[in-house]
Order: sequence, then structure tokens, then C-alpha cells
Amino acid sequence: MLIDRLRSKDLGQQSFSTMSLILGIETSCDETAFALVHPDGRVLVNQVASQIDLHAQFGGVVPEVASRRHIEAALPMLKSSLAEAGAEWNDVGAIAVTQGPGLIGCLLMGVETAKALAWRYDKPLIAVHHLAAHLHAPFLLPEKAGATHLLIENGKEKKAIPIEPPDGAEWGDVIVAQPELPAMGLIVSGGHTSLVLVHSPICIEPIASTRDDAVGEAYDKVARAMGLGYPGGPVIDRLATEGDPTRFLFTPPMLRRDEKDFSFSGLKSAVARLVESIQAEKGPELDPQTVRDLCASFQATIIDVLLTKSLRAAREHNVRDLLIVGGVASNRGLRRAARERAAQNLRIWFPHFSLCTDNAAMIAGLARHLNPLDAEEALELNPEASLPF
Ligand code: KG4
Ligand code: ZN
Repeated sequence: MLIDRLRSKDLGQQSFSTMSLILGIETSCDETAFALVHPDGRVLVNQVASQIDLHAQFGGVVPEVASRRHIEAALPMLKSSLAEAGAEWNDVGAIAVTQGPGLIGCLLMGVETAKALAWRYDKPLIAVHHLAAHLHAPFLLPEKAGATHLLIENGKEKKAIPIEPPDGAEWGDVIVAQPELPAMGLIVSGGHTSLVLVHSPICIEPIASTRDDAVGEAYDKVARAMGLGYPGGPVIDRLATEGDPTRFLFTPPMLRRDEKDFSFSGLKSAVARLVESIQAEKGPELDPQTVRDLCASFQATIIDVLLTKSLRAAREHNVRDLLIVGGVASNRGLRRAARERAAQNLRIWFPHFSLCTDNAAMIAGLARHLNPLDAEEALELNPEASLPF
């Protein structure tokens, strides 16, 4: 198992010279991403080429189409990432790549690119777990000046960065703070919904996960049922702010204390059935306020489930910090509700938006805590579609 192999030794910054950068490559789904991260956790470059336009016409990601686009995008992005940092290959100390989990054809493009570059430029190669990397986002300093993580503490929203700003710049009301480990982690993305206990950046214990759809997947499918396009999360989040969350009442799934796991496919189907019955009665075109109310009601149910379960798990495991990461952590309704519901003694972290959806900065960032593969292992590295923690 990847993490077992890597857990043995935490080289951290010692494995790279203090000046050398880590090049990150992420291609697990429909984003081609390259990043350069400094060993101190500063993100210098975070380039993401989204394929949303390409997949929107199909209403979701088409794996074969996604892998082809990764090949086309990779080398131009590599060049532009180095150029953006004003860096040369001499400045790169290691190459980090997502090994899994993800779409196998997409992962393969990233892994083979990384292997070829590592061999050509004689750089150490580091294999990274995509979900462990999502959990690492709050430990990185986002690349844009003024970009911060959201920390909810004592019911108040604070702007936090994990290390002092590099040039000693004054950032007003920004505080320098990092989550305390062990922490509870809620990973919410298009492919995953899991609660995990984060003992260290690379030692992660699964607590619960979804039995069927991931939460982002439910957003995307519900949006499709209402004809709102792909991806569904951002548009439902926006429309929900103008809707009435009490107009349609959906049963929050698996909310009992003894039901640890998540399940979203029943909720997704309930919304789709309701949409069909409204259409059967009133015609295929849904009126805009009904769409807004459906979005608000669906989103309120999702948020209730996510927060009830993660707050309960944080309490049961007696941790001080809860990290909410992945694409769905961008959700503004979830961020607002977290502030309203957070217990006094719990701190809740949401990464800066640039580090929520898939990116390579989190891949390069986590690589700081992992051992490089030896030359033979590097050449034999294979992607894994379902890589366990
Ligand atoms: O982490 P991510 O970029 O990719 C995966 O690893 O899956 O997450 C993508 C998912 C999509 O399902 C998208 O609809 C969802 O994140 N998403 C959101 C929001 N922004 C993106 N879901 C809810 N609210 C949002 N604001
Ligand atoms: Zn992801």
C-alpha cells in the first residue's frame, strides 16, 4: 500500500535543498494541473486547465475524452508553469504526481508524463495519494497575495494562512495558524465523500464513506435533472441563495447516530422524481422560482447531513480541528452553515477556493512529507484507480 511504504520515514524538507522547488502534476479527473511549491509550503505557481467546456455537452466527464485532453495540455502547461515561476529545471528538486485514486486513463497520462520527465531530467519521483493531498490544502500558502483559508473559530470567520507571508508583507487581519493534528477530515468531491481521522499528513484513518454517489456527483446529477448544466455544484450553490429551503422537504439520508456512512443516491433520485412530477403537471419548462426552491431545499438537506455527521465525528474523536476539503468545500452555503453550527471548542477549516477543486499545488505540497521512489520503483510506477489510504 502506498501510504504504508511511504509512512516509514518523514523526510519533509530535508529531502530537498531549501531552494529547490517541487513540481506537482495532477490529472486524476477532468483538470490538467501543474504547480510549483516551495519546501516551506508556499505555492509559487498553481495552473489548472479545466475541461468543463469539453464535458459540459455530455453532462459529465467522459473518461476517454478527458485523458486525450490531458496529453494535449500537459507539455504547454509544464513550460508555462516554469516560465511563470521564472524557474528552470535546475530549480526543480523533485517531481510529484497523483498515483490515484481517479480515472485510470487520466491518471496514466499524468504518471507517464511524470516518469518521463523524472528520467529525462534525472529528478526524484514522488507518488501522491489524491485524497491525502486534498487534506493537505490548509497547510499551504495560496499563491495569490491576499488569498487565505477560512477558519471558523468560536462562531467567527477568520482569514488564516499557515506560515508568515514571505516578504514580511502586512496582511491586515490575517492570522498565521495551522490545523492541529490529529484532526477530523471531511473530503467532499465529485468522486468521494469520506470522513477520515488525519493523524499526520500521510497517516490517514478512514472513518466513514459514501455507500453510493459522492456528494459532488449528486450535485451534478440533480443539476442535470433540472437542466442546469455541468458542473452542478456552483450553479446550485448560487441559485440556492435565492430559493426557499423549506418549500420542498427531503429526508436527510443516514442521519441516525448508528449510521456512520453517507448515501446520496436516494436523495438525488427523490429530487429527480419530484422534477419529473412537476414537469408532468406543469409542462417541461420549470418556472425559475421553483428551480431556485428546489436548489435551496436539496442543498439544505446535503449541508445538514455533511455537518451533522462531521461535527458528531469530531466530537466523538475529541479533536480540536475539522478540515473540510475537496471541490464541494467551495460551497458558500456549507461555509455559512458551518459558522452557524460550529461548536465553541471546534475550529473548522476551509481551504482557499484555488485549493478546493482539483489542483497540483496540493500534490506538490504533500510530497514534502513523502519519500521519493528509488530509480527502479520510479520506472515501474503505475496508477491505481482505487488507491486505499
Ligand atoms: O475535488 P474536485 O475538483 O474533483 C474531484 O476530485 O472529484 O470536485 C469536483 C466536484 C464537482 O462535482 C462539482 O460539482 C463540485 O465539486 N463543486 C461544488 C461546488 N464547486 C464545485 N459542489 C457544491 N458547491 C460548489 N460551490
Ligand atoms: Zn479531487
